[in-house]
Amino acid sequence: MLTIAHLSDTHLGQVHHGDGGRRARRRTEQVMAYLDALPGPLDAVLVTGDLADHGRPEEYREVAEALKSRHPVLICPGNHDSRAPYREVLLGEAPEEGPVNRLHRLPGADVLMLDSSIPGQHDGLLDEPTLDWLDAQLAEGRTELPALVAFHHPPVELHLPYVDPIRQFGEDRLARVLHRHPRVAALLCGHSHTGAATTFAGLPLLVAPGVVSTVTLPCEGGSDIAFDHPPMLAFHVLDGDRRLTTHYRALPTGD
Ligand SMILES: [Fe+2]
Ligand SMILES: [Fe+2]
Repeated sequence: MLTIAHLSDTHLGQVHHGDGGRRARRRTEQVMAYLDALPGPLDAVLVTGDLADHGRPEEYREVAEALKSRHPVLICPGNHDSRAPYREVLLGEAPEEGPVNRLHRLPGADVLMLDSSIPGQHDGLLDEPTLDWLDAQLAEGRTELPALVAFHHPPVELHLPYVDPIRQFGEDRLARVLHRHPRVAALLCGHSHTGAATTFAGLPLLVAPGVVSTVTLPCEGGSDIAFDHPPMLAFHVLDGDRRLTTHYRALPTGD
């Protein structure tokens, strides 16, 4: 059995009411401190993109500090991220612009983190090299183990007028790859700043809530983005039957 904490959309560098970014930093550190203080076993912390708000190198230096953890931290970029400084500062690699795709092997499961960002745009797409990489990774290596596939943009509408127009498009191509690999147990994403659960390609699709803000449904009224909701995260438990169970947690705001 594996337990993975999943948070998303820390948006470090986001200025809120002229606070110089302190609110985003405080919320991110609060979530990470909560996870560091857990008394029981936690296998990884997954952060599904929009780590920085403007994709600036100095924001990634803040991300590197704020996401320090005693657990393995697995990341993928979002539409607010910028591939070159993300690579250079967070991964210690040359600052090139290709998609940032990564595999992390946990005991008992592979986690594949895909880059669904399109440089300069807010909507998302898994490009052909990324889908080819996913297909190859799922076909090679530890094929007897389940796999979790993570990316920033949800490939379906979540009935949120603010984010549905900037979801991941071209999703039929992803579905075709997933249908070839029954070892995929679930899909994990962010971007929508709401804790949500749905399906895609016959698989569970779990959306992590936003650390920095919450996107609300039309029935909730008000503006599309709420800053008075608490920082939230998800825990995903993957059991021996390859069933993923998700628990959502809200932390005290302190705002
Ligand atoms: Fe975001
Ligand atoms: Fe996003």
